[in-house]
Amino acid sequence: MKSVAVFTNKGGVGKTTLLCNLAAALAKRNKKVLIVDADPQANATQYMFDDDVLEEIYDKKSLYTIYSMARPLSQGKGFSATHEFRRSQAFNVDVLLGDPRLALIEDTLAADWNSSGVRGLRTTFLFREMLSACKAYDYVLFDMGPSLGSINRSALISCDFFLLPLSIDIFSVRATENIAAWISSWRKRLDLNISSVADLSDVEVDDLEFRLNLLGYVNQQYTAKRDSLGSRRPVKAYEKIMNTIPAAIEKSMVTSGKYSQRPLNFHMGTIPNLHSLVPMSQSSRKPIFELKSSDGIVGAHFVKVAEADDLYREIAVRFIENIESFK
Ligand SMILES: Nc1ncnc2c1ncn2[C@@H]1O[C@H](COP(=O)(O)OP(=O)(O)OP(=O)(O)O)[C@@H](O)[C@H]1O
Ligand SMILES: [Mg+2]
Repeated sequence: MKSVAVFTNKGGVGKTTLLCNLAAALAKRNKKVLIVDADPQANATQYMFDDDVLEEIYDKKSLYTIYSMARPLSQGKGFSATHEFRRSQAFNVDVLLGDPRLALIEDTLAADWNSSGVRGLRTTFLFREMLSACKAYDYVLFDMGPSLGSINRSALISCDFFLLPLSIDIFSVRATENIAAWISSWRKRLDLNISSVADLSDVEVDDLEFRLNLLGYVNQQYTAKRDSLGSRRPVKAYEKIMNTIPAAIEKSMVTSGKYSQRPLNFHMGTIPNLHSLVPMSQSSRKPIFELKSSDGIVGAHFVKVAEADDLYREIAVRFIENIESFK
C-alpha cells in the first residue's frame, strides 16, 4: 500500500476533480483504491455520493466519517478502534467519507503540534495510524483543502508521497516554493518532537518516519489548441509559464535536498479545460470518462469523453510507474 496526498495550498485548481477521476482510472486498471476525504469542504464526498448519503452526513450525522475517526483522539481517548469505509460503485473505490465537522479538530491538532510530548506525536500521526489498517489497498489517496493548516500537515506527514496539481500561473510556481519551505520546517520540528519523547512506544504508532516524497505534478486547466498535426498545444502565454515549471520544481523540490528520492518523471500529465463534461460528471456522480448519452452526452461530447479516458489513463499509468520507480 502506498499513500498519496493530492495537494497544493492553492485553491480551486482542480485537485478534487483530478483525484476522483485518477482514482477511478486506477481502479479501472485493477488497483484497489481508498479515497480519504480529508477536506472539511467534503467536495470529493459530494462528487461521488448521492444526496441521501450527504443528508446522513450533514443533517442526521449518522454515518462513520473522517470526523468519527478523528474525534476520539481529539478528546484524549486514543485512536478510533475501527474504521468504516463506503463503496462508490460508479468510481469503483472505497471512501472514508468527508465531514465539515473535521474543521473542529484543526485547533486541537495545532495545539498538540506546538506542545511536544506523546500526545502531540499521537495526534500528528493520526492518519498514519489509520493507514496501518489499510494495507489491503494498493493506493490510498487523500483529498485535502487548500491550506497549510494542521489537518493537512498531519496528512502530509503521514503519507508516502504527494502529487501536485499545478494551475499554469506564476502563483503556482510560488506555491511549490512555499510547500517545500514548510515541509522542511515541519521535518525539523518533528525531529525535535520525536527526540523529546523518552519512550516512543507510548505514542502507539509503529512507524514514525516522515518520508514524504514528491510523486510528480499534473498541469491543470490551461487553454489547449490543436496544431496542424492535431496534437494538443497550449496557447503561447501559458506555454511560456509552463516552460518555467520543470526548473522551478527542480530548484524548490529537488536540489534543495528536501526529498530523499525522485520519481521517474515529474511531469505526469496535463489536463485541459474539460468544459461542460465536469459539471455533467458532478451531477451524474460518475467519472468524466464514464459519461454516456443517458448522462446528457451528445454529438461532439462523445469525442471529448473518449479523450478524457485517454488523459486519465495516461496519468494513471505514470502514477503507477512513478510509485514503482521508488521501490
Ligand atoms: N479540467 C477541468 N475543466 C473544467 N473545469 C474544471 C476542471 N477541473 C475542475 N474544474 C472545475 O473547477 C472547479 C474547481 O475544481 P475542484 O473542486 O476540483 O478544485 P479544488 O482544487 O479541489 O478546489 P479546492 O481548493 O476548493 O479544494 C470546479 O467547479 C470544477 O467544476
Ligand atoms: Mg477540492
